[in-house]
Amino acid sequence: MAAAIAHDRDTDTWLLSTRSTSYALRVDDRGVPRHIHWGGPLTLDAAASLPAAGSAVHSSFEGLTAVGEELTVDGANRYGPPALRVRFADGTRALTWRADGHEQPDRVTVLLHFRDPHYPLRTTLGYRVHPDTDVIERWTELAHTGDADDILVLRADSATLSIPLRDDYRLSHAVGRWAAETQLKREALPFGETVLTSRTGTTSHLAQPWVVLDAGDATEQHGQVWSAALAWSGSWQMTLQRTSDNQLSVNAGAGHDAVTVTLRPGETHATPPVLALYTPDGGFGTLSRAWHAHLRATTLPHPEETRPVLYNSWEATGFDVTLENQKRLASLAATLGVELFVMDDGWFGARRHDHAGLGDWTPHPGAFPDGLKPLADEVHRLGMAFGLWVEPEMVNPDSDLYRAHPDWVLHFPHRHRTELRNQLVLNFARPEVAAWAFDWLDRLVGENDVDHLKWDMNRSFSEAGWPDEPSGRGDRLWFDHVRAYHSLLDRLRAAHPHLRVEACSGGGGRVDPAVLARTDQVWISDNTDAADRLVIQHGYTQLYPVRTMAAWVTDVPNQQTGRSIPLRFRFHGAMSGALGIGGDLTRWRPEELKEAEQLVAEYKAVRHLVQHGELYRLRPPGDLQSLTAVQYLAPDGAEVAVFGWLPQPRFGLRPAPLRLAGLARDAHYREPRTGRVHHGAALLERGLDLQLPPQDWASTVVHLIRT
Ligand code: DGJ
Repeated sequence: MAAAIAHDRDTDTWLLSTRSTSYALRVDDRGVPRHIHWGGPLTLDAAASLPAAGSAVHSSFEGLTAVGEELTVDGANRYGPPALRVRFADGTRALTWRADGHEQPDRVTVLLHFRDPHYPLRTTLGYRVHPDTDVIERWTELAHTGDADDILVLRADSATLSIPLRDDYRLSHAVGRWAAETQLKREALPFGETVLTSRTGTTSHLAQPWVVLDAGDATEQHGQVWSAALAWSGSWQMTLQRTSDNQLSVNAGAGHDAVTVTLRPGETHATPPVLALYTPDGGFGTLSRAWHAHLRATTLPHPEETRPVLYNSWEATGFDVTLENQKRLASLAATLGVELFVMDDGWFGARRHDHAGLGDWTPHPGAFPDGLKPLADEVHRLGMAFGLWVEPEMVNPDSDLYRAHPDWVLHFPHRHRTELRNQLVLNFARPEVAAWAFDWLDRLVGENDVDHLKWDMNRSFSEAGWPDEPSGRGDRLWFDHVRAYHSLLDRLRAAHPHLRVEACSGGGGRVDPAVLARTDQVWISDNTDAADRLVIQHGYTQLYPVRTMAAWVTDVPNQQTGRSIPLRFRFHGAMSGALGIGGDLTRWRPEELKEAEQLVAEYKAVRHLVQHGELYRLRPPGDLQSLTAVQYLAPDGAEVAVFGWLPQPRFGLRPAPLRLAGLARDAHYREPRTGRVHHGAALLERGLDLQLPPQDWASTVVHLIRT
């Protein structure tokens, strides 16, 4: 393989090479970093011979090429959306590029420095190449190199990514809301500027900080696809610009439109990384598998581990948790084969409902007179790991914490403090708040043998002010709150290496590669209706690995949708991720408990494939009349698990055989349950007959082992 980073001095062209892709840029003779190529492999010679992206100035109206700078800045006759926009103390807003050398701190990283010819601003474009996973990581660093006057940064994106010229473009992205997250949308990209954003302080339920782009011709199995994901767990913005002459760029960065950064002399501001991934063929399916491989190889804290089968008490006991009812649930869960028991909300302070107690993290004296240790011990005695729900960033105004520290919450001095779910947001950017949180979390985990924390966050920011910030720059909370969240998780994990963490924000309100770097699984939605879940899971796994996707079987009628779906279908839905159970087991009939026990065992027989295998989406979730199917293939190809769900067929029609993917044509595959043996070629060409029972809510799991 070519060197990860090569440089042609004559043309000042940089070539970044991965296993199957190349990315090239050039610092032109005016000192402007210009995009050259992002696509299939090129030699350095070939890259140096290419012109920079973008079109020549067309008239006195359109301005400089709107696409093609590696970071589009505000200034001169540029009229596109700027990725970097600053205002100097004298009011000047125009930025001018001037190359100022480069550094290569290691084999896979290059930093290109630029300085403004007049003002004391140094801009650094960072590139890190992941040769084995085809990801190019990019970020920007700004440094105030002067000794007077602040510089106001109005926008600092991590990067501008230019997509190669195509006749047409299509955007795939995920939208949602609470209990309806990550719904995949695939639509023609309009001309003009398309802004995807979150202004909530988290990545949000509303949109996901990633985009997938193709020329309108890719399918699940075929075609070139470009994509970008921001590793940032707060507000964010991605601006896609499709010009009238059909060029396309994406600016991606942290913070939303109103968030600014004030740089004092000597200060720096580093953006989070944006990860760019191009797959040359194989369509959306190959792209997803490439993302999963990258995140497994570089991001997840313990990719080699297998996520345990979890039980969570939330839907069973709500806020009414007691030592007795948790012990009862734990003992039933253990008989089903559950390996991790998590007590959810309600165990602390005056938290008997959502009006009080958040912030007072001591066990409720009535419910847990001797603290949490007796429950932890009992759960451990039953052979399960012990998990606990926390929501460290929040406070109920009716709490001792808030009465003692009303200034610790996000607020503006002359504005009402909007309560959502009767709670306010603690300002983790304040060092004393972050220190307080670390202190009690560290003790909670250490003193109670806690193996797993479910870290929740149940509201968006509002009145996001910090009036007594010592330097008068309260806006920095938008960044520093998120950094403190990350650093608390990092410190907790370092202090308790056995601790595993589940990310949650009222379901999937906060997930991105930075969350995945410091947690072990994600509670992706409060919606546990199995049919809705297939849609949410389909969107989640476009980028994120299946093993991080916590999925529970809960009771019927479903608490979110009111729909009653049979237990088996509910299980099969949840078994296609990291299986959990969240129903009230004390109300399950003996035959339901028996069936659940069998299904948990069935899951354990295939979960190495679900959690560590390659995902093939054979049939995306459509309407309730159609088959949804996924396949997980062992990394060595020797085993397969196929999941199929058919909610409500019409006219008694059965689906056509399901053509599998990625198998060896001349191998044979045996179903351990039935002993049936299939030819690989037959499974690829004719397909697998799922033999779904002739009834509504039919579902199945087929395990195949190469003979
Ligand atoms: C929202 C989470 O998504 C639920 O699973 C549960 O933990 C509740 N919060 C508890 O308040």
